[in-house]
Amino acid sequence: MIKAVNEYIAKKIAERKEKNAFRELSLSKDLIDFCSNDYLGFARDKNLAILNHQCLMDFEDLYNGSTGARTITGTNRLTIELESMLSDFHRSSAALIYNSGYTANLGLFSSLPYRGDLVLYDELIHASIRDGIQMSRANAYSFKHNDLVDLENKLKRASGKVYVAVEAIYSMDGDQAPLIDLVEVCKKYDAALIVDEAHSNGVLGAKGEGLVADLCLEKDVFARVITFGKALGCHGAAVLGSQDLKDFLVNYSRPFIYTTAPAPHMLISIKNAYDKLSKSKHKILNLRDLINYFKLKIQDLLDEAKIESSSPIQCLIIPGNDRVKAVCRQVQALGLDVRPIVAPTVPAGKERIRICLHSYNTKDEVDRLVDALKKSISINE
Ligand SMILES: Cc1ncc(COP(=O)(O)O)c(C=O)c1O
Repeated sequence: MIKAVNEYIAKKIAERKEKNAFRELSLSKDLIDFCSNDYLGFARDKNLAILNHQCLMDFEDLYNGSTGARTITGTNRLTIELESMLSDFHRSSAALIYNSGYTANLGLFSSLPYRGDLVLYDELIHASIRDGIQMSRANAYSFKHNDLVDLENKLKRASGKVYVAVEAIYSMDGDQAPLIDLVEVCKKYDAALIVDEAHSNGVLGAKGEGLVADLCLEKDVFARVITFGKALGCHGAAVLGSQDLKDFLVNYSRPFIYTTAPAPHMLISIKNAYDKLSKSKHKILNLRDLINYFKLKIQDLLDEAKIESSSPIQCLIIPGNDRVKAVCRQVQALGLDVRPIVAPTVPAGKERIRICLHSYNTKDEVDRLVDALKKSISINE
């Protein structure tokens, strides 16, 4: 029996290796960062780390752990204050913290849609939402990426309660959802719109409050998922929505209920990251300036190679796992950290370099990156 299991594991590993798609864990290299999600540099901010440490020492209660699930011993003063701060900042009625964006999406989508309901999701939606939908008993269909006509055609034929799932900024493409139009279509068909703001939180909006709040659509969007592991530089996530939605999740969302609550260190880090965000307008503006600069510099690359995006995520399509990996290796050898995104994370033929720009990157670094990319892409044509 165990022999059969071991053979199965070996076969699956061999399959990945054959396709040059084997994922390996390695230490991050000390190169110029063009691949992390630390868009504003908060994760690497030593002063923020020192402040987090001091706040933890000053916290009068537990230091190391939360001691239990949220519904038992895992809710403390920090949690209540942070959820209240999050709902104020993002202008929602309520906020519920989860241990990560993955579990927030799993928790929301596995519990809310039910048998007889329908979830329509953008075909490029994140794996965590797909997994959540799969755990629910709802019917689910994808619609073409950012395609309102395809979505509307599917909404016309829908029955039961209907949910529509999109990302504000798509994680693997960097482009933005047409949110104003999506709100209109969802209103027309009485569908509940859910927006994942993992990559827009901290980046979009005058104060980094995300796309929904920036467009003043808080009342039109049924729920939002915000995460803290990207621009906020720490870890964790929250679902934003009505107080009733929060009460529902506390009662029915298994990934929320059956797990140990976040430790005080995580809550303090999130609180201090938000305080820092409120003083970081210049960083957000720097980042936007750098995005425009990068776009200008890659103008002369073939259109098929670029995915149009105004976000910190800029992708160059380099089909084939071997080729995209070779290009990245050559660019890395010049001291610039870029990473390949290969099938099956993205569809075969759409393999890409996912370049992440940060407020701490300089224009000189961008020049070096663009030169290196152009050279390496032409060598590997
Ligand atoms: C769009 C999107 N949603 C959710 C997640 C999951 O968030 P977390 O990393 O906090 O689990 C990610 C991160 O990969 C993401 O890109």
